[in-house]
Amino acid sequence: MEAPTRNLALDLARVTEAAALSSARWLGRGDKESGDKAAVDAMRKSFSTLEIDGRVIIGEGEKDEAPMLYNGEKVGSGNGPGMDVAVDPVEGTRLLAYGRPNAISVVGMAPKNTMFNPGPSFYMKKLVVPEAARDIVDIDAPADEMLKKIAKVLGKDVDDMTVFVLDKPRHAKIIEEIRRAGARILLHTDGDITGSLMAVNPKSDVDVMMGTGGTPEGVLSAIAIRIMGGAMIAKLDPQLVDEKNSLIDAGIDTRRVYTEKDLVKSDDLYFSATGISGGSFLGGVSFSGYGATTHTLSMRGLTGSIRYMEAVHNFETLMKVSNVKYD
Ligand code: FBP
Repeated sequence: MEAPTRNLALDLARVTEAAALSSARWLGRGDKESGDKAAVDAMRKSFSTLEIDGRVIIGEGEKDEAPMLYNGEKVGSGNGPGMDVAVDPVEGTRLLAYGRPNAISVVGMAPKNTMFNPGPSFYMKKLVVPEAARDIVDIDAPADEMLKKIAKVLGKDVDDMTVFVLDKPRHAKIIEEIRRAGARILLHTDGDITGSLMAVNPKSDVDVMMGTGGTPEGVLSAIAIRIMGGAMIAKLDPQLVDEKNSLIDAGIDTRRVYTEKDLVKSDDLYFSATGISGGSFLGGVSFSGYGATTHTLSMRGLTGSIRYMEAVHNFETLMKVSNVKYD
C-alpha cells in the first residue's frame, strides 16, 4: 500500500514553482534582495498548504536576520509527518540579479531528525561523481590525480571529461590541476547545486563537480544525489576566521569526511527544483501575455521517481484559488 505522503513530491513542486514564478520578475534587475524576498514570500505561503509538521533545518539564516523561513521555523499545517526541511528559495541570487543562467529555486525534505544541521558552518568542500566512481573518490587528493582515476572507472579519457567548478579565487589551484590533467572545465560564478545535479545526471555533459561551496547547498545536493544515484564526499571547509573559530568552539571536527548518506540519513526523501533564469539543466520561467511556463525537477526517494515537469500557469484562473499572488 502506498503511503499517503506520496503526493508530497508533487506538492513540493508547487512550492518551488511559486518561488520561481514570483522571483523571475527580478531577472537582471540588479537587485539581489528583492528577487530573494519575492521567492521567500511565495515559498512560505505555498508551504502553509502542505500537510506536514515541518521544521526548517536549512533556511535563510538565523531568526534575527531572516524574518521568514528562518532556521528552526515551523512550516506546513502542523498535521502529517514530521519533516526536516531545507530551502533555498533562490539558489544563485547573483545569477538572478545579473541575468545569468542557472538560478533555481530548491527545496528538500527528509523525515524529522535525519538532516545534517550545518550549525556555524558556511562552506564545504565537495566532490560529486557518478555511482561508478564511488569507491575511488578521495576528497584530499589533488584534482589531477583524482580525475585520472575517475576517468578510468568511467571508461573515458581524461580529456573527454567535463568538470564543473565554481569560478572563485579560492579555486585557482584546483583549476590549475584540472587543466594539467587535460579535462574540460565548466566555470560558473555561482550555483553548485546545479553542478552537483549535472554530475550525477547521465544526460548531462558534466562528469564531476568539485570545489568548495556552501554547506547548506551541500545538504540539498546530498538529498538529490541520494534519490538520483551517484556519490558525494565532502568536508567542512571554513573560509572565514569567524567561521573557523565558531566550528572550533562548537567542537566540530573539520577533518571528518561526509558522504551523501551522512548528510541525510534516510531514503524517504523529497526534492524539487524549478528553473528561474533558465540554463542547460532546467529551463527558466517564461512569461506570456496571460501567465507563464515553468520547468521543474521533482523527485521522491522511496520510489526513486524522477519527474521533469513543464507547467503552464494561467494567472487569471490561478489567482482565483492560489494564496500566492502573482503580479
Ligand atoms: P546564493 O544563492 O546564496 O547567493 O548562493 C550561490 C552560491 O554560488 C552557491 O551555489 C554556492 O554554494 C555558494 O554561493 C558559494 O558561496 P560564495 O559565493 O560565498 O563563494
